[in-house]
Amino acid sequence: MSDAGSDQSEGRVGLGRRFWRSVFRGPLYPRDDRERKWVVVNNLILHFRPVQLPARSLKYTHTFGLGGMSLVLFLLLAATGVLLMFVYEPSPERAYESIRALENEVFFGKLVRNIHHWSANFLIAVVFLHLLRVYFTGGYHAPRQFNWLIGLTLLLCVLVSNFTGYLLPWDQLSYWAITICTGMIGYVPLIGEWLQGVIRGGPEIGSATLINFYTFHTTVVPVLLIVLMAWHFWRVRKAHGVVVPRAPGEELEEKPESVLALPNLLMREFAVALILVAFVMAFSVFVNAPLDAAANPGMSPNPAKAPWYFVGFQELLFHFHGSFAVVVIPLLVAAALVLLPYLRYDHQGEGVWFVSLRGRQLGVAAALIALVVTPLWIVLDEYWIDYAAWLSGLPPVLREGALPFAVLLALIVGLYIAIRRRFSASRVEAVQAMFVLLGVAFAILTITGVWFRGAGMALAWPWNL
Ligand code: HEM
Repeated sequence: MSDAGSDQSEGRVGLGRRFWRSVFRGPLYPRDDRERKWVVVNNLILHFRPVQLPARSLKYTHTFGLGGMSLVLFLLLAATGVLLMFVYEPSPERAYESIRALENEVFFGKLVRNIHHWSANFLIAVVFLHLLRVYFTGGYHAPRQFNWLIGLTLLLCVLVSNFTGYLLPWDQLSYWAITICTGMIGYVPLIGEWLQGVIRGGPEIGSATLINFYTFHTTVVPVLLIVLMAWHFWRVRKAHGVVVPRAPGEELEEKPESVLALPNLLMREFAVALILVAFVMAFSVFVNAPLDAAANPGMSPNPAKAPWYFVGFQELLFHFHGSFAVVVIPLLVAAALVLLPYLRYDHQGEGVWFVSLRGRQLGVAAALIALVVTPLWIVLDEYWIDYAAWLSGLPPVLREGALPFAVLLALIVGLYIAIRRRFSASRVEAVQAMFVLLGVAFAILTITGVWFRGAGMALAWPWNL
């Protein structure tokens, strides 16, 4: 009795002291499971991670650590961003010169700028891959729908952050890319010109634009990102970790074997973080962030392209009327992404890569269709299709907007119905096939815009650009 009593009291009273001992000995190695659980539950940072998780969720190929990698890149951006703020001057007269001074006169200035630049670009790619991972493993179904929406808002913030940062060097590349993108906003019906004026801070790109972008880039968006990320991690924890992985057709046992997050998950995340930081550092040592000549509002480079993550939309402008390329299509895509978790599915395939074996086959078929049809359509539209001559009686918004869009929509709906009927695909499998089709098509539009458009934005081979 006295043994049990002293055990209990030692356990209760001694935990705090044992925690501090473990802090000095190394917080990642508390002595036993009970102590570990205590550390996890009471540590502020670890509040955002699940205390316990199913052992099978640790499998690297389930998440590829992409969510954690996004956080690491954000931290790198924050650290290097603060350093850059000591030198950068947000005025059209000084911005370019301050970047030049940073690169040439400040100790390790070039490396800091390179790390910031490449982390920002990798972040877009990694967040996007994370979105794909979540979608293709069915991590967006209940109870995770709302976290999907927080994730979409995070994606939007990451894009706005990159876009507002793009202008800051005030070189030809940044000045004209932002001119093109803010120009595209003019296609928004009714409020387009007003919205463009608000974003630019006036009719032209100038010092008001730079101040607007600088404030958003260094204050508004980072604060939003921090709040949203904390919320996002908290929701992952509330859902008891990520969706549990399983093979197609496999039923999960009621209570899968679980392990403590510390050290099992955290040590793995720490290892991924170290490798990522080493990679970004090495990349930044060897590859410099671009810096063109100082901005010259009187001379546009040829071709003038949007930043790579918006080039897909710029490419759409060559195939659809502006109001469809810049407004209707992006809004429909955004609405579809928001609604995805709330559609009524017949089954969910949660935790299974690509839902099922049939889901995988349909996904591959959809990707192949997009790989063939999209380049074909781009080439035909460039050299053969001539709406203006064929349908000269119709207003441009109909002949180059509504009409081709209606044809595209009919093809997509037709394909969806065919997949459902011909292959007896479930709704979630058919929706996934459409997701793949449109995703691959957009990737091809982006690749075309980045590598296959030369002077005058005409189609060209990459080696002739
Ligand atoms: C800065 C951006 C983001 C960060 C730092 C982030 C971070 C994370 C982390 C650390 C996890 C835990 C598992 C993992 O590593 O995959 C996670 C899960 C999740 N994320 Fe994100 N994420 C971001 C953006 C997004 C986006 C764009 C979406 C989708 C629209 C999204 C949707 C989700 C969902 C639904 C889960 C739970 C998935 C599951 O249970 O399998 N996240 N996120």
